[in-house]
Amino acid sequence: MTTIGINTASRPVRVLHVTDPHLFATTEGELRGTNTHASLLKVLQHIYDSDWIADLITVTGDLIQDDSAGAYEQFRDTFSTLGLPIACIPGNHDVVPLMQTVLSAPPFSYCGSHEIGDWIISGIDSSIAGSAAGKVANAEMVRLREQIDTSDAKHALVCLHHPPAAMNSEWLDKVGLTNAMEFLAVLNAMPKVRATLSGHVHQEYEEQHNNVRVIATPSTCRQFTKYSEKFAVDDNPPAYRRVTLNPDGSLATELVWV
Ligand SMILES: [Fe+2]
Repeated sequence: MTTIGINTASRPVRVLHVTDPHLFATTEGELRGTNTHASLLKVLQHIYDSDWIADLITVTGDLIQDDSAGAYEQFRDTFSTLGLPIACIPGNHDVVPLMQTVLSAPPFSYCGSHEIGDWIISGIDSSIAGSAAGKVANAEMVRLREQIDTSDAKHALVCLHHPPAAMNSEWLDKVGLTNAMEFLAVLNAMPKVRATLSGHVHQEYEEQHNNVRVIATPSTCRQFTKYSEKFAVDDNPPAYRRVTLNPDGSLATELVWV
């Protein structure tokens, strides 16, 4: 868990948000009829071909689907060609010890924090072993607060797998962040925190919760049907998000469907 500083004071910081690739050890692995490796490659090719130059890619969990070290090696080999720092955090489908083993050396970081320009981008673990739901443990809240408070950065973006907000989808909200209200209150009491970035919900979400903008991005594979009472996937394509963090603390995002 490292802090990495890049001295680029007072200019917009550009972050690419890629989430929930659900990879397998084999490139043939499918999730609900979609080859997750091929789907991720399409997203990364789109990023590679675009002229939107990023400072960092953040990947907010569910990196793998089959509990194997080989799937993390697929992830590492697929992302390492991009030439950017890749900030990773775990989701409910991740196996933390395997993930830490494969993804702790640059260009990857595991639950690290990155200081770029006027911003600190911090990743935290909201996963609970053996559960699809999540929780930000007290120790993780303390670690986050310390990272942000001791940083010279003026503004903070917090990355965690489970968004701290309800999606108004009955089945999905049952496996959401169990202490979302408490965590949001903690974030709202931290004056530097501007926004959170999450995956998990495989759908688009962006709402202001007092001082904190809560943002979720669809997966690089299949998406869940919005507001559904029961589990359902829709036909929306893979996606990723561009996030511009401005020196004045404002941010702009653009969802890109691939
Ligand atoms: Fe997922």
